[in-house]
Amino acid sequence: EMLEKAGYDHFMLKEIYEQPRSIRDCLRGRISPSEGTVQLGGLKDYDEKLKNANRIIIIACGTSWHAGLVGEYLIENYARIPVEVEYASEFRYRNPVVSEKDIVIAISQSGETADTMAAIELAKSKGALILGICNVVGSSITRLTDGGAYTHAGPEIGVASTKAFTAQVTVISLMAFYMAQLRETTSPTVLKELITELDSIPTLVEKCLATEEATKYIAEEIKDAVSCLFLGRGTGFPVALEGALKLKEISYIHAEGYPAAEMKHGPIALIDDELPVVVVATKTSSYKKVLSNIQEVKARKGKVIAIITEGDEKIKKEADFVIEIPDAHESYLPLLATVPLQLLSYHVALLRDCNVDQPRNLAKSVTVE
Ligand code: G6P
Repeated sequence: EMLEKAGYDHFMLKEIYEQPRSIRDCLRGRISPSEGTVQLGGLKDYDEKLKNANRIIIIACGTSWHAGLVGEYLIENYARIPVEVEYASEFRYRNPVVSEKDIVIAISQSGETADTMAAIELAKSKGALILGICNVVGSSITRLTDGGAYTHAGPEIGVASTKAFTAQVTVISLMAFYMAQLRETTSPTVLKELITELDSIPTLVEKCLATEEATKYIAEEIKDAVSCLFLGRGTGFPVALEGALKLKEISYIHAEGYPAAEMKHGPIALIDDELPVVVVATKTSSYKKVLSNIQEVKARKGKVIAIITEGDEKIKKEADFVIEIPDAHESYLPLLATVPLQLLSYHVALLRDCNVDQPRNLAKSVTVE
């Protein structure tokens, strides 16, 4: 087992550190930055259907569902197809409206999740085209789907998903660009810029790994918290959800992810000097609004931990702690900002003596209902 962990104390840490490589593997052969194009072999038979799609329904569970939410932002923004993101367990039992004009994208690391499989069967029986985003080659879901793309993240052993998530986000971004290219809904110049930047994301993720020292320090500050709030807006919202899920999964601290602007409709009542609030506050189009959310938390004596764009002196002055990540297009925020949050959960869990790789009551793959 020591050999498999390649010198890391836990599989989770090893898998966090593998992300520059896993994202690179996921991109290999699929993008051409010089031409500004995306190729996805597992989608090309369905070009006509994708061009004329009425709606996309993304089906997943757990962390994979968070990757689906990122997909909603990107597909709607670039490919202009309406997207719904559904928990497989809810979708399968609520008599959903699905037709042959719909395209379902099922996201699953293991490719074996029972609820996701049942949701696929249901959508299939109503005539929808089913595409998959899976990590495990040859898994059940890959056999149920009509097409799709592998994440190529390699085996993920830690129960809490890390590198599989960033690879899923990478694939769904590629799918969004592929559809935008087919449907001509985004200008070739913009697509080219996005694809060129995507090519450099593995290098930026490497830089995000350098936040580990800062996350160790902050982990000391939040290790005894009873509860923790994670806030984000736009593409930072799924990041907040995923950050909260990681923390609760492996450190057993109650954590909640919330859209920053919804704070005033509830979570603000929880804020006092005991509540750490992790805010995804990088320089995106909602920067100013998030900054004012930080001020609202500070006014109620909350402890703010902000993920910021490197060099942001303004938020440094407002927040109690900051974690700096490289500047990038906001479409890529989930690929970068998630990394320090994974590291933060890892270090909190270590300080609390939790079993990082095999948290209590959780399974890597949930093959029963
Ligand atoms: C379990 C795992 C999670 C995972 C979820 C969905 O709860 O512990 O890490 O996100 O299942 O699994 P899937 O294999 O379908 O992505």
